[in-house]
Amino acid sequence: MDSARRFACCLLICVSLWSSGVKCYRRPNIVLILTDDLDLTMGGLTPLKKTQRLIGDAGMSFTNAFVASPLCCPSRASILTGKYPHNHRVVNNTLEGNCSSAAWQKSEEPNVFPALLRSAAGYQTFFAGKYLNQYGRSAAGGLQHVPPGWNYWVGLTETLSSLGVSGSGLQRFTSEDISFLSFTFYKSSYQPFFMMVATPAPHHPWTPAPQYQDHYNSTKAPRDPNFDHHGKDKHWLIRQAKTPMANSSVEFLDTAFRKRWQTLLSVDDLVETIVQRLEVRGELDNTYIFFTSDNGYHTGQFSLPMDKRQLYEFDIRVPLMVRGPKIKPNQTSQMLVANVDLGPTFLDIAGYDLNKTQMDGMSFLPILHGQMNSSSWRTDILVEYEGEGSDVSIPSCPLLGPGLWFCYPDCVCEDAFNNTYACVRTVTPSVNLQYCEFDDNEVFVEVYNLTADPFQLNNIAKSIEQEVLEEMNHRLMMLQSCSGATCRTAGVFDPSLHIQIVSLGSHYVDTRSISRRPVT
Ligand SMILES: *[C@@H]1O[C@H](CO)[C@@H](O)[C@H](O)[C@H]1NC(C)=O
Ligand SMILES: *[C@@H]1O[C@H](CO)[C@@H](O)[C@H](O)[C@H]1NC(C)=O
Ligand SMILES: *[C@@H]1O[C@H](CO)[C@@H](O)[C@H](O)[C@H]1NC(C)=O
Ligand SMILES: *[C@@H]1O[C@H](CO)[C@@H](O)[C@H](O)[C@H]1NC(C)=O
Ligand SMILES: *[C@@H]1O[C@H](CO)[C@@H](O)[C@H](O)[C@H]1NC(C)=O
Ligand SMILES: *[C@@H]1O[C@H](CO)[C@@H](O)[C@H](O)[C@H]1NC(C)=O
Ligand SMILES: *[C@@H]1O[C@H](CO)[C@@H](O)[C@H](O)[C@H]1NC(C)=O
Ligand SMILES: *[C@@H]1O[C@H](CO)[C@@H](O)[C@H](O)[C@H]1NC(C)=O
Ligand SMILES: *[C@@H]1O[C@H](CO)[C@@H](O)[C@H](O)[C@H]1NC(C)=O
Repeated sequence: MDSARRFACCLLICVSLWSSGVKCYRRPNIVLILTDDLDLTMGGLTPLKKTQRLIGDAGMSFTNAFVASPLCCPSRASILTGKYPHNHRVVNNTLEGNCSSAAWQKSEEPNVFPALLRSAAGYQTFFAGKYLNQYGRSAAGGLQHVPPGWNYWVGLTETLSSLGVSGSGLQRFTSEDISFLSFTFYKSSYQPFFMMVATPAPHHPWTPAPQYQDHYNSTKAPRDPNFDHHGKDKHWLIRQAKTPMANSSVEFLDTAFRKRWQTLLSVDDLVETIVQRLEVRGELDNTYIFFTSDNGYHTGQFSLPMDKRQLYEFDIRVPLMVRGPKIKPNQTSQMLVANVDLGPTFLDIAGYDLNKTQMDGMSFLPILHGQMNSSSWRTDILVEYEGEGSDVSIPSCPLLGPGLWFCYPDCVCEDAFNNTYACVRTVTPSVNLQYCEFDDNEVFVEVYNLTADPFQLNNIAKSIEQEVLEEMNHRLMMLQSCSGATCRTAGVFDPSLHIQIVSLGSHYVDTRSISRRPVT
């Protein structure tokens, strides 16, 4: 392999040792396991016992990991590009919204992190599983389209596309298929590899493996304080939900919850297989393994039966666990990270100069290595969502009129064109806030103090100190127009400026007054 030889020079990390001269190591391998619709707040990690032991306990678990958009295609585009949605322009799950569109393939796909890992950092790259929605559609180039960046490609559609060969004969996507495929490619001993395994689970239709279909048969969705709670101080779409939910909705979501957990048992087996294979090949100690999800999920929160697409914690907060070289076991980090940071972190591991990219996210490798403390880390991230809707009335719910989406099972709608919002999510050791603005007729605002109100029962937009409200509004506008480095500037509560909110009731004391920064 010419390309391999050409890059062999850069794939090694060499250090001078006083005793034994120069010693060289191969760059670490990287594995990303990406689940679909796995929540953190409803106990989504509970069935994943082996995953928690093999990745979380062996490394670091993040308690404040978020997605830039709580929907599959915009979120996956953020992972691949390291950009917020306003910069990668994938706004929903359809071709018209740039999901797998020709425009995406032309302007964004050539610069995704796997392409840089492969072409500039010399990694062998392998993909198996669910890529972007609409992948494989003829309008998206059909199964012949193998996205740039991948040496080995097994993309899931109704059938699998294996290196562009349509209908490879693999109709099912099981743990055995992926792990077998994942490791037959790996031949070169001097090229490190990047492997991405994107499971369809626990996404609908929640088909459990036969051996797990009786598990959790008495489990129900958790009845947390926000379960079937009427969000009367929330945006229009939440206010239209019916509280209490119809019994048919509750039965439907409890069944879904149970089946989701059953399918996660297969994900747990897959993770175990991957770790075992790496160990057998002697690669485990030189491999970073990341486990996360494209968005969270809800079942019954604020009386919405089930879906994602909302600004609340259950939909935007995701699991994130990482093990790998120089990561101490059994660590928990409260630092604020987002899915736009994954690409920069992988490129950092590969030794790629991040200044050469256009990415909005930042490498959290220093956090993993215990070389970053909260006083030097970022304080806020952006969440952007553009509501999906239908131009005509949903046939099963004709009375609702047009503009709505996913109104099941009892004509309670999960989405609408005007469920379009942007939020700034702020986390520091002393502050845990969320500020959101809707692009709807009411220009609705929601603000939550997660320290006092972890279930987001009280929208404090009307009672919060005006100055803080203005500051967060200003910060949101900056982030909504940010690009690259300007997305990474310190935030409203910039700890490096020693701005501390000393709050007694509604009075904030800040000796320097909160800084206003121009967009640069
Ligand atoms: C799709 O992406 C292209 C290229 O970035 C952009 O010009 C276009 O506005 C995007 N479409 C939408 C709906 O955002
Ligand atoms: C639940 O599963 C257990 C064993 O796995 C079985 O004994 C029991 O009958 C099942 N209950 C229901 C309601 O299916
Ligand atoms: C749900 O069913 C229970 C009985 O199982 C009944 O008491 C209750 O009124 C029903 N709730 C609704 C909203 O229909
Ligand atoms: C991590 O913590 C668990 C529970 O305290 C313990 O059983 C395990 O041995 C620890 N693992 C490592 C690698 O230290
Ligand atoms: C990247 O840019 C930053 C800020 O301009 C600079 O401090 C840093 O040295 C640069 N890194 C490399 C590898 O050039
Ligand atoms: C945090 O990191 C900064 C910069 O690396 C350093 O100056 C500071 O002393 C550190 N603070 C703590 C509490 O470790
Ligand atoms: C997706 O976004 C495009 C561009 O904004 C829009 O035309 C289309 O209606 C959206 N699709 C849905 C289902 O909302
Ligand atoms: C949102 O859209 C729906 C459907 O088009 C409409 O009935 C509703 O009044 C809108 N609400 C707001 C706050 O814009
Ligand atoms: C958030 O709640 C905590 C705990 O009640 C309180 O100390 C803090 O001042 C509140 N922050 C804001 C911005 O309201």
